[in-house]
Amino acid sequence: MRIVRTISETRAALADLRAEQRCVGLVATMGALHAGHISLVRAARAACDAVVATIFVNPTQFGPNEDFSKYPRTFEADCALLEAESVDLLFAPEPAEMYPEGSSTMVEVEGISDRLDGQSRPGHFRGVATVVAKLFNIVGPDKAFFGQKDAAQVAILRRMVRDLNFPLEIVVCPIVRDPGGLALSSRNRYLSPENRQAALALHRALQRIEARVAAGASDAATLVDAGRAVLAEVPAVRLDYLRIIDPDTLEDLPDIRLGALIALAAWVGSARLIDNLVIPPAQQATTTSA
Ligand code: PAF
Repeated sequence: MRIVRTISETRAALADLRAEQRCVGLVATMGALHAGHISLVRAARAACDAVVATIFVNPTQFGPNEDFSKYPRTFEADCALLEAESVDLLFAPEPAEMYPEGSSTMVEVEGISDRLDGQSRPGHFRGVATVVAKLFNIVGPDKAFFGQKDAAQVAILRRMVRDLNFPLEIVVCPIVRDPGGLALSSRNRYLSPENRQAALALHRALQRIEARVAAGASDAATLVDAGRAVLAEVPAVRLDYLRIIDPDTLEDLPDIRLGALIALAAWVGSARLIDNLVIPPAQQATTTSA
């Protein structure tokens, strides 16, 4: 695996791959890699000829009081994992390479960026859209792989790709969970053993809603209450939001319908965790109003 730190080196390396007319897959990360990231790399490996990974803890997607400075940085271990997956190229720039003095252009996907995490973390998705647009321009991938765990990020990036005519396909890969059901996240490293146990309630809340839907419930407010009740049983969990939404617009739905997304965010200790579940269309097709 070749490791490059600058945009010009990345472009030169990509020009070689492109000359061979290879399909290039991009896996953009902030490092602190776990099995969820590796699943994206494997999906890219399976679908593309060449895999480019990026590691960049992007300052513009963190608010002033957020965890930018303490975000886990495990570069050596990350490189070993990527090397083991036969990644072709790793682009790991410094902030000054991505945002040189005088940078003043940001990408704003209006409206949708203020929903869910965008409501709780103002400016977060502006930072995400900006850095991902830059990575798309630098790497020029044919396919870019993102995790379903960040469902709002996926909706915003899909919209950006459509609106700005990026010639690439976004591929969304399933959430990877630990054996207890906790969605893998770099921020799980912040959890004490007790809080890790408490955090399992997030998935349990989603499962409770899923079970209610399977039993025929469809009213969103009632379903949200059922999920909230699960979280309320665990004092260490402080809910930010639990919503039933349209996965494309991130707007609240009054009742479950095809492709509805149940999304939540909660604080467990110092970790802000997100999780979600898509109600499978087959399940919804058989539901009736509660
Ligand atoms: O999902 C992430 O890790 C980040 O938001 C991303 C897409 C790498 C942009 O910094």
